[in-house]
Amino acid sequence: MIDSRQDARGSATAAFLLALLLTLLVTATVYAFAAHIFPAPRPITATAVLVDQQYARTLYVAGAVFVLAQLGLAFAVFRFRDRGTPARYSRGNVGLEILWTSITLVVFVGLALAGRKAWAMNRYTPPAPDAIQIEVTTSQFVYTFRYPGSDGKFGRLDPRLVDAPAGNPLGLDPNDPNGKDDIVMSTLTVPVNRPIELLLRSQDVVHNFDVRELRLQQDAVPGMMIPIHFTANRIGEYAIVCTQLCGLGHNKMNAVLRVVSEKDYRLVSELKSSHLQGIPEFVDVPVSAK
Ligand code: CUA
Repeated sequence: MIDSRQDARGSATAAFLLALLLTLLVTATVYAFAAHIFPAPRPITATAVLVDQQYARTLYVAGAVFVLAQLGLAFAVFRFRDRGTPARYSRGNVGLEILWTSITLVVFVGLALAGRKAWAMNRYTPPAPDAIQIEVTTSQFVYTFRYPGSDGKFGRLDPRLVDAPAGNPLGLDPNDPNGKDDIVMSTLTVPVNRPIELLLRSQDVVHNFDVRELRLQQDAVPGMMIPIHFTANRIGEYAIVCTQLCGLGHNKMNAVLRVVSEKDYRLVSELKSSHLQGIPEFVDVPVSAK
């Protein structure tokens, strides 16, 4: 035992290789971010742009700390390697502890303040008064979207009437006149450049509504109606995915957000209004421009 221990003493090779490995890992990580190997899709709301800016700020700060800390570690691994002399015990440095704890505090609070607008636009600011309300109901493992129809009012729901095979997945009460013109769809179609307010519900477990291009993610919780809002500014089709592990079919739980022109949107509404209510249907209206 003593022999092998003594062999290692004074050898700089192991310490050098470890320091080199750390430096290479740091370089590879910085490259992966700097080269945008995994780019985020283009944002389609003003808020999403702010979220991206905040993400970049946070990444620069955290990235700088990461690089400095890891290179410092590599330096320490090599500089303070086993040289065959007894190790010196250090009690640390109170002044330094206070200094970097304060810096961390300032950086964290500063980043939170810098990002407050992006957060507030989504969470603390109410939607525009003329926002189009659409109800989003999640269940294992589908999204169902309901529009209030021409009267602007959602009909009453009764959980006892929920019967997806019979064409009433939401439990719409047929006796409520407000529900007569409700439109139920399996795709979320919204007009471009119009404020949209989604009302998130869940029929069973916790699900999630996430659209990467909106930079908007919100859980749907049973027993709660959670509002979120956005204004999409680019026509196109975007994936809606569930990001909460909600059961065996979780990986297949997705839907499509279609942002269409005002004209196409009216077409969808009119088509749907002349159809049977309460039956989710996919109306394939072409997306005019991408
Ligand atoms: Cu719903 Cu995962």
